[in-house]
Amino acid sequence: MTVRHFLTLNDLTSDEALKIINRAAELKALHKARTVHEPLKNRVLGMIFEKSSTRTRVSFEAGMTQLGGSAIFLSPRDTQLGRGEPIEDSARVLSQMVDAVMIRTFEHHKIQTFADYSTVPVINALTDDYHPCQLLADVQAYTEARGSIQGKTVTWVGDGNNMCNSYINAAKLFDFQLNIACPEGYEPMSELLESAGDRVHIIRSVEEATAGAHLVTTDVWASMGQEEEAKARMAAFRDYQVSPKLMDIADKDAVFLHCLPAHRGEEVSEDMLDDPRSVVFEQAGNRLHAQKALLEFLIR
Ligand code: CP
Ligand code: NVA
Repeated sequence: MTVRHFLTLNDLTSDEALKIINRAAELKALHKARTVHEPLKNRVLGMIFEKSSTRTRVSFEAGMTQLGGSAIFLSPRDTQLGRGEPIEDSARVLSQMVDAVMIRTFEHHKIQTFADYSTVPVINALTDDYHPCQLLADVQAYTEARGSIQGKTVTWVGDGNNMCNSYINAAKLFDFQLNIACPEGYEPMSELLESAGDRVHIIRSVEEATAGAHLVTTDVWASMGQEEEAKARMAAFRDYQVSPKLMDIADKDAVFLHCLPAHRGEEVSEDMLDDPRSVVFEQAGNRLHAQKALLEFLIR
């Protein structure tokens, strides 16, 4: 049987992605009812983190435990990966010992190489280019709040980063329109924009991009690994803040999402996360349920 990886949303068909979102809602209900559901008993997830994490680490580790399995946290500080053991060798060794591997790293090609040599599913838990697990939780959050995202208009405000790239993939997979409001020089990956065609538009004016939108979302101005650019980015993104005032020009039923962590006073106003239109904490909580659905789907 060919092993399935989840390196980007393009690794799923639309049908599979929708099934995972529906399953996430079922798993959430089971979790709330404290029903024991352990289809992954004795299965193990290896978790390689080369960048910091709160939500991703805890949701994967708690998720594996709740599904009857367990997870091992691996940091470059105390594994041979950090001392230069080749990714190819690490993949061949680890995939004989665990049932899936989750990786958070910098360059996307590293996770691709790992997957090429792995005999078990590899899950992208964030690279410089993509954050597909987050998108499962985002679509679950929108669906819970307002129903299907199909045919809706989503506005991305700010940096054309890993989250923005994943929103472009999500627009194709879940069939929605995407307006991207970003300053010049901070666009998402051009090949993704080309592949999305008419579904995705770059609109420089935040107001124009947000008018009538059903979902408004943003992310930090400087991602992990861009700390040295932070000052220049502060200046470039000054006009790209989401606030309740901006939300007022979106659709009357619009919701606000943010993958978190957020920087209040930068990409969001001080009061945005607490606005009634914000569902960011439900969104964060859904990381647990969406990833449990993904683990059930991938680990055979
Ligand atoms: N949104 C997200 O991936 O959060 P963490 O960096 O805390 O995992
Ligand atoms: N774009 C952010 C997302 C963090 C969850 C980063 O890469 O740091």
